[in-house]
Amino acid sequence: MDGTILSRGLLRVLTCGSVDDGKSTLIGRLLYDSQMIMDDTLAAITRDSRKHGTVGDEVDLALLVDGLEAERQQGITIDVAYRFFSTPRRSFIVADCPGHEQYTRNMATGASNSELAIILVDARKGLLTQTRRHSYICSLLGIRHVVLAVNKVDLVNFDQQVFDRIVGEYATFAAGLGFHTMVPIPVSGRFGDSVSSRSGNTPWYRGPTLLEHLESVRVEEELSHIPFRFPVQWVNRPSQDFRGFSGTVASGSVAVGEAVVVAASGVCSKVARILGTAGDQERATAGEAITLCLADEVDVARGDVLAPIADRPAVADQFAAHILWMDEEPMLPGRQYMLRIGNVWTSASITLIKHRVDMATLDHQSATRLSLNEIGLCNLSTAQRVPMDPYAQNRLTGAFILVNRFTNRTAGCGMINFPLRRSTNIHHEHFLVDKAARSAALGQKPLVLWFTGLSGSGKSTVAKLVEQALHQKGRHTYSLDGDNLRHGLNRDLGFTDQDRVENIRRVGEVAKLMVDAGLIVLASFISPFRAERQMVREMLGAGEFLEVFVDTPIEICMERDVKGLYAKARRGEIANFTGVTSPYEPPEDADIVLDGSGPSTETLAQQVLELIERRMARS
Ligand code: ADX
Repeated sequence: MDGTILSRGLLRVLTCGSVDDGKSTLIGRLLYDSQMIMDDTLAAITRDSRKHGTVGDEVDLALLVDGLEAERQQGITIDVAYRFFSTPRRSFIVADCPGHEQYTRNMATGASNSELAIILVDARKGLLTQTRRHSYICSLLGIRHVVLAVNKVDLVNFDQQVFDRIVGEYATFAAGLGFHTMVPIPVSGRFGDSVSSRSGNTPWYRGPTLLEHLESVRVEEELSHIPFRFPVQWVNRPSQDFRGFSGTVASGSVAVGEAVVVAASGVCSKVARILGTAGDQERATAGEAITLCLADEVDVARGDVLAPIADRPAVADQFAAHILWMDEEPMLPGRQYMLRIGNVWTSASITLIKHRVDMATLDHQSATRLSLNEIGLCNLSTAQRVPMDPYAQNRLTGAFILVNRFTNRTAGCGMINFPLRRSTNIHHEHFLVDKAARSAALGQKPLVLWFTGLSGSGKSTVAKLVEQALHQKGRHTYSLDGDNLRHGLNRDLGFTDQDRVENIRRVGEVAKLMVDAGLIVLASFISPFRAERQMVREMLGAGEFLEVFVDTPIEICMERDVKGLYAKARRGEIANFTGVTSPYEPPEDADIVLDGSGPSTETLAQQVLELIERRMARS
């Protein structure tokens, strides 16, 4: 291929296979044959092989690779382990990824920085769902070169037909995955056939051995040969006379004197100095940690990206991306997550799942959520505009992670397809009369009283009394109520988790508009999820959101059962009923908790009014 290079002699390889495919043994064989094992290590392995006893008296090469005691005992690999070995022709970093579906995230981690994948197939079993899953993930994460290692050929009598059938089937499946090379090799990890030396057992195979191929395969240009991207990690300003921007060059290279642009603001300048670990330097390339000084006093903050003027990243707050979901808690459109891309953290939500990918068939399915280990093509929206590249063009500036705001777990990873054009064409319009003017005219401080609690807890009843009292005092109010809005604005929504998320998102937007209009809003919604109540709180200004938890035990709600819904739910006539077949997450830091089991609704309303008075007096 023209314009390709040998990647400076280093090849990053990912190995994937299903349980028992013999992946660890194959890697062990590669290390063993390239004589990377010291004699004393070998002696220890020989001892261990007897102890674990999976291959009789022979050396179990898998023990070279399966470093963790836990995985040895279970006979599976559970983490990404990186091995390094080299031959006179090339050096290799091998990422060994687990085969189990629950470890998809480890696999994605390994795939995101590998150039070639060895997809292992057990010759006796042929292609498995895992083989297809792994191949798809490799393709999605930008791997363009695969080796189909048909392993354990010794156990199928080195039969060419078996090999040909597997290769044919794989070639058909992988046709749409965009691999630039796909080299099938019949191997035996255990006996070494076609691993590093030619095998007399497969005279019909004329291709390279695995090692020959790994040593000679040409991979695409690496990160240093694509456009310059410098995500700023921090602004370094030790004194008045020095101002530099520190970070690691993500891709490409830059030299003193070159013109650069701050992607988000579009402000241009020239590189005045580049400081590396050894002081001033003329040039910096991908992977180098530097401090860069510009010729002009331009505004640059953490998270900004410096790029060449003629080849800048897109800057958008809406984009389409493939998301691999890695959390037990499903991904729900409309829910807020923290998104990290480069050095930017911003809040983000999925606005649409265009489709979910069935990884065994590559079919597109419609979906309303993504569960653990599922992949979908989604539209996302971020709170701020962020610089980005399509993942296919840049694996660093085109990738992001999504973090669960409550558990801080990495919940998903994403690969950007393209920014959505609409995000760059919509601007905020500013009017001459604003919230402050409207509030002043109404003579009140606008706010939202958010009543949350089970169905039948008494939310609406208390809210009605509070509104009446406020009204009598001349306050301007408006009530938003679950049952009412579900007849109009939200008539298309039901009670699945994702519909409830969308319900609260819309109500939040409406409440925000009403606060902007200067009103005191009383919102009564079960709003069972902490995440969405928090989202509405964050949509509003400080002090504009008061969370009122109407804490009524479910037994009492069931007993009251004003609408007869609990009875129906218990008879199985209503699905996803809160408290019965759908969860309710009580607030942990409500502004006020009302005891819905004892005091009269008048007393509860009075407590809320007192809270409002206190808050108003404070502000
Ligand atoms: S929320 O969960 O999305 O916040 P919302 O407050 O809008 O719910 O609507 C709740 C009202 O819908 C309940 O008071 C009840 O009258 C009615 N309802 C009908 N089906 C259900 C259900 N499956 N779960 C809860 N409420 C239901």
